[in-house]
Amino acid sequence: MYINFWYPVAPSEDITNDKPQRVRILSLDFVAFRDTAGNAHVLADTCCHRGAALGEGKIKGDCVECPYHGWQYNGAGQCTLIPSQSADEKPPARAKVDSYPVQEKYGILFAFLGDLPEDERPPMMEIEEYEAEDWRANILRVFDVDYYYERSVENGLDPAHNEFVHPKQGTPGMIMDFKKNPIQIDPLTDYGSGFMMPFTQVNPDGGLMADVNSEYDEIVHAGSGHVGPNGLVTWLHFSKEKRFHQYFFEAPIDENRTRIFFVNMRHFMMDPANDQRIVDINMEIAQEDIDLLVNLNPVRTPETMTKELLVPTDKPLVRYREYLKDWENRGWRIDMLKLAEERGNVASAIPCPQRRTARNWVLDEVPRV
Ligand code: FES
Ligand SMILES: [Fe+2]
Repeated sequence: MYINFWYPVAPSEDITNDKPQRVRILSLDFVAFRDTAGNAHVLADTCCHRGAALGEGKIKGDCVECPYHGWQYNGAGQCTLIPSQSADEKPPARAKVDSYPVQEKYGILFAFLGDLPEDERPPMMEIEEYEAEDWRANILRVFDVDYYYERSVENGLDPAHNEFVHPKQGTPGMIMDFKKNPIQIDPLTDYGSGFMMPFTQVNPDGGLMADVNSEYDEIVHAGSGHVGPNGLVTWLHFSKEKRFHQYFFEAPIDENRTRIFFVNMRHFMMDPANDQRIVDINMEIAQEDIDLLVNLNPVRTPETMTKELLVPTDKPLVRYREYLKDWENRGWRIDMLKLAEERGNVASAIPCPQRRTARNWVLDEVPRV
């Protein structure tokens, strides 16, 4: 798992000025809340006084109040009130917790979990057609799965599994001769790449897709790509008009669980009355992947490529692993073994950008490889 990327925190509508939300991402806890002006904030969850969970506290005006001794923290993570101090005493400078940059898009609250200054931050995955008139977004679906997020992203980047895992999609088969024509992978941003290729529909009438798309062209153009470690896009072009784009914004909860925020865009069947049906069909297809991925062994992506026998059609996920390696070399990879070893004895936090300019933090930075 990596710091310095944008992670989905919660559906925007779940973040209110009534009650803070406690959320686990990257195996650490965060608190999200809205101030009286409606701005959302994401802070490290551990109170710097004696370690209580801020997410279990209350919202007081523009602040979150710790449930233990009532210290109040504003959206910048600064403690503004220590009730046990006399009225003329100000909270010490060290009374602060990490506060992370946020963005709200596509009905999702995102936080940048890292310490890079704004101009150095990787982008979040964009949905360019989100507001376009000839595209329609489905209802946001958020679901948890019992597997590691990298296994999920790699599955999305794997063109050879569809024929075997997705009868409900009409079993899209690969038709390219990869010995002569290796998969062409192109960068999407500086932080990821993708590919597009033709597929045949092996069983065009047998899948759920046939239900929404009665006239298949013989060849379906499809592909996928990633932005950062945790953003996955899949393009399905049945024809020029009939197009689906599926976006998975993934939040690793810990090393065994992932929360997926799923936005599906479509360029046909625009009537909103189709929304629920399209979501249901997509979730049935997603379930085919889920049933497979919960049983992968090992649970996490192996440390070296030799621990799996990779073949040319695995090239997109090999490329993904190269990006991960690059981010590890930049010092962004969390040392999960050390974190697990320290857990219970040390409270740590993902460093926020303010740590680059201000010292004096109570919590340790999360250990990194
Ligand atoms: S632990 Fe939070 S106020 Fe004491
Ligand atoms: Fe799949």
